[in-house]
Amino acid sequence: MAFIWIKPLLLCLLLLLVFIDLSQATSLSTIPKKRNYEEKYYYVIELVDESFVSPQDVEKLLDVQHEGQVGALDNWHVFSTHKSLTARSDSAGEDSQDRVLARYEQLKNLRRSDSSNKKRSASPIDAILSVEKQHLRKRHKRAPPPIPTPITDIDPVTVAASLGITDPGFQYQWHLINPIEHNDINVTGVWEEGITGKGVYAAIVDDGLDANSDDLKDNFFAEGSYDFNDHGKLPLPRLSDDTHGTRCAGEIAAAKNDVCGVGVAPDAKIAGIRILSGQITDVDEAEALNYAFQKNQIYSCSWGPPDDGQSTEAPKGVILQSMIKGIKEGRGGKGSIFVFASGNGGAVDDNCNYDGYTNSIYTVTVGAVDRTHSHPYYAEKCSALLISTYSSGSGSYIYTTDVGKQNCTSMHGGTSAAAPIATGVFSLVLQIRPDLTWRDVQYLAMISAVPFNLHEKEWIRNYAGRLYSHKWGYGKLDAYRIVQNAKTFKNLESQVHKEMPIIVVNKIIPFNDHGIISSINVTQKDLDDVNLARLEHITVTINIDHTRRGDIEVDLISPYGTVSHLGAVRRYDEFKGGLNNWTFMSVIHWDESPVGEWVLQVRDRQNPEHTGTFKDWILKLWGEKIANVLSTNPSPSPSPSPSPTINESPIPTDDDETSTSTSLLPTQSSIALESKSSTWIFAVFGMGIAFIFAGIAYFAKRRCWDKRGRKGRSFFSRDTYDVLQSGEVATGGDVSLPLNKQFMTSRELFDAFGDSSEDDESTQVVFENAYMDEDINDDEKKVDNGSYTEGMIEHRDGGITNDSNNEDHQ
Ligand SMILES: *[C@@H]1O[C@H](CO)[C@@H](O)[C@H](O)[C@H]1NC(C)=O
Ligand SMILES: *[C@@H]1O[C@H](CO)[C@@H](O)[C@H](O)[C@H]1NC(C)=O
Ligand SMILES: *[C@@H]1O[C@H](CO)[C@@H](O)[C@H](O)[C@H]1NC(C)=O
Ligand SMILES: *[C@@H]1O[C@H](CO)[C@@H](O)[C@H](O)[C@H]1NC(C)=O
Repeated sequence: MAFIWIKPLLLCLLLLLVFIDLSQATSLSTIPKKRNYEEKYYYVIELVDESFVSPQDVEKLLDVQHEGQVGALDNWHVFSTHKSLTARSDSAGEDSQDRVLARYEQLKNLRRSDSSNKKRSASPIDAILSVEKQHLRKRHKRAPPPIPTPITDIDPVTVAASLGITDPGFQYQWHLINPIEHNDINVTGVWEEGITGKGVYAAIVDDGLDANSDDLKDNFFAEGSYDFNDHGKLPLPRLSDDTHGTRCAGEIAAAKNDVCGVGVAPDAKIAGIRILSGQITDVDEAEALNYAFQKNQIYSCSWGPPDDGQSTEAPKGVILQSMIKGIKEGRGGKGSIFVFASGNGGAVDDNCNYDGYTNSIYTVTVGAVDRTHSHPYYAEKCSALLISTYSSGSGSYIYTTDVGKQNCTSMHGGTSAAAPIATGVFSLVLQIRPDLTWRDVQYLAMISAVPFNLHEKEWIRNYAGRLYSHKWGYGKLDAYRIVQNAKTFKNLESQVHKEMPIIVVNKIIPFNDHGIISSINVTQKDLDDVNLARLEHITVTINIDHTRRGDIEVDLISPYGTVSHLGAVRRYDEFKGGLNNWTFMSVIHWDESPVGEWVLQVRDRQNPEHTGTFKDWILKLWGEKIANVLSTNPSPSPSPSPSPTINESPIPTDDDETSTSTSLLPTQSSIALESKSSTWIFAVFGMGIAFIFAGIAYFAKRRCWDKRGRKGRSFFSRDTYDVLQSGEVATGGDVSLPLNKQFMTSRELFDAFGDSSEDDESTQVVFENAYMDEDINDDEKKVDNGSYTEGMIEHRDGGITNDSNNEDHQ
C-alpha cells in the first residue's frame, strides 16, 4: 500500500520543485519592456528603500506612466511621458524645459517651504530620491582606430592559400598556440585536463552575436541574450558593421569544429546582449549589465566612453547601481565578473584611469600585447590595469569567427580582442571553481600573471614583491597558470573599506616639477576600525580646478614608496573644468601594508598659460576583512599568497633590488621551489595519461584514422620536426616553415581535446609528446633565466612601435 502512495507523492514534489524553479527563473529574468524613443521621454526614478510610495503614486504625482522596474534594481523604476504632451517638443529634450523635471522641482520646493512651516507629515515627494531624464547616447567599440599611414601587410590566409593550404581555422590562432615566438596564452595544457569551459555562461555585451554561425550556434545561450537596440530576444547582427560582437564571441566560445578555429573555452555557453548598434539610454545599459545575471556569469565588455583622449566619463546613477547589484547579487551572490577592454586611445594619450568603467574596482581591466610582445600603439595604460593579453599589432591580428554561416576574419584586433580572451580564460577557471567571487578572480588573475619585457623601466616592484607595469598591469595572462592556481585557491574573506577623512588643500598648482604634495597618515587603528586585514584596491577621489584638464598629473606614493600614476598628461584634453569628484583607482598597492604616510603629488608641467587649484582629495582603502575578527592576533602584515600551494609568477630579482624585498618576503623562494616541483609532477602525470590514451586510440580507433590521417601525415614527419628544431625558423622572411609548424600544433590542438574519435595514429602522438617535452624544457630554461621574453623574435623597446600600425578599420 505504502508504495502506491509514494509514487504520486514524489511526482507532486517534483512538479512543485520544477514550478518553484520556473517561477524563480522568470522573476529573475524579466523581459525588458520595449522602448519608444521616437514618441516618448523616459525618466529613471529612484525611490527610498522599502518605500511607502508605489510607482502608481509617482504616476499620479508627476503625471507620468510607469514602464516597470529597472532590471533587477528594486527601488529604481522607469517612467515615460508622451512627447506630444510636452509643450515644446522641438526643444530636443532640454532638461531645463522638461515638464516632468519642472514639476518634480516645483513639488520639492513646495515641500521645502512646507517643512519650514513645521508641518511634518509624510509626503510622497520625500520618497523620490532622484529623477533622471534619459538621453540617447552611443557607446564606442574598442576595435582598432584608423591608422594614418597603412603599410602593406602579409595576410596569413592569403599566404596559406598561395601555398595550397585551404584548411581554415586554428593554424592562424597564434594566441592559442604560437610555435614561432612562443607568445600565447598557454591553454592547451588546460584543455588536456578536460577544462574547456563546460557549464560556464559568458555574455558578450556588444553589437550583436550571430547565433546562426556554425561556430556559435551550438554554444549560443538564448536565455541570457537580449537585443536592447531593436528590442527582441535574439541579439542578431542587423547592421552592416555589426561584426564586432560576433568576432569577440568567437574568441571566447567558438565550438570545436572545422570553422574558424576554436574559442579559448570551446565548451562554454555564450550569450549576446546587444547595445552597441545604435543609441541607448542609461536605463538600457543598466539593464544590460544585469541581464539574466543569475545565469550569465561573465560580462565581456569591449566598449566604453570615447577613447579620444579628452573624455572623462564614469558610470553613475542607475548604471553604477546595476554594476554594484551585479557584484553583490549576481552569480548567486558571488558577483558577476565584469571584464573591460582597457581602451584604444593609446595613440592620443588616453589613459584608462579617465574611464570610469575600466577604473572601477568592480571590473577586470584587460590591456593588449601583440604577438612579438610589443606594446600596440592603441592600448591604453593606467594604474587600474590588472593584466594584459594578446591582440593585434606588429602586422599580426586575431583570427576568429565572423558574421555569416561559416565566415571567419583574420583581422580582429584592438583591446576589443584582448578582453574576450581574458573572458575565455576566466570561463575555464569558473568551470573548476564556480565558487570564486569577483575579487577571487581578480586576485587569481594578479598572482598568475606573467611579467615579461623585464628590461623596461615601467616595471616597479611593490611591497608584496610583485612586479607591476602601467603598460602591462601585473603581466600577461597564462591560462595554465591561473587554472592551476585556481585549483587550490582559498576564497578571500569578504570586502571591507576604509574611507579616510577629506584632505582640504586649496592651493594653486605651481608650474614646476615639484607641484603640490599633500599627505595623510593611515594608522593601524584606521584599519582596525573596519577590520581590514589586507589591502586590495586604492581609490582617490579628487577635486582640481584647472583651465586645461589634460595638463594635470596626479601621482600617489604609498608608505612603502610604490608610485601609482593616477592621472597622466593627455595632450588633447582641453577641458576647462578640471576634475570634479573624479575617482582614480590603483591596483598596484594590492597586499601592501597601508599603515604610514600616503602622499599625493599633483603637478602641472605642460602649458604655463593654463593654471589650476588643487582643492581636496579623499583616500579610500579597499581590502579583505580579517578572517576571524575575534582572533587575538589579527596580523595585518602582508602574506603574498593565501595558500602556500599557490603558483605565483616567479619574481625575477634585479641587481639593484635591495635586500629589503627579500627580507620582507621570506617565503618567496620556497613558494617558487614548491611550484616548480608540482608543475613537474603535473607534467609527468599528464604525459602518462596522454600515453595511455594514445595506446587506447591506437588499438580501438584505427578505423577513424583514414579520414583524419591524410591531412596529418604530410605535415607530421620527423623531418619537419628536425628542421624546426635546427633553428631555421626565421623571424619573418620565410613564412612556409612557420606555417608548417603551425600545422603541427594544430594537431596538438586536436589531441588536446582528448576526443578519442579524432585521435591519430599512435606514432604521431608519440611525436607530439616529444615535441611537447622539448617545449616544456624550453619553458623551464626560460624560468631559470628569469626571463620570459626571449622568443625567436626580438622585442622592441618603448611604448609605440611603428610597424604595428596596420590595423583593420572597423
Ligand atoms: C604552460 O603550460 C604548461 C602545461 O601545459 C606548463 O608546464 C608550463 O609551465 C606553462 N608555461 C608557463 C610559462 O607557465
Ligand atoms: C561571408 O563571406 C562572404 C565571402 O567573403 C561574403 O560574401 C558574405 O557577405 C559574408 N557573409 C556575411 C553574412 O557577412
Ligand atoms: C605623518 O607622520 C609623519 C611621521 O610620524 C609626520 O612627519 C607627518 O607630518 C605626518 N603627516 C601628516 C599629514 O600628519
Ligand atoms: C562630490 O561628492 C560628494 C559625495 O558624493 C558630494 O557630497 C559633493 O557634493 C560632490 N562635489 C562635487 C563638486 O560634485
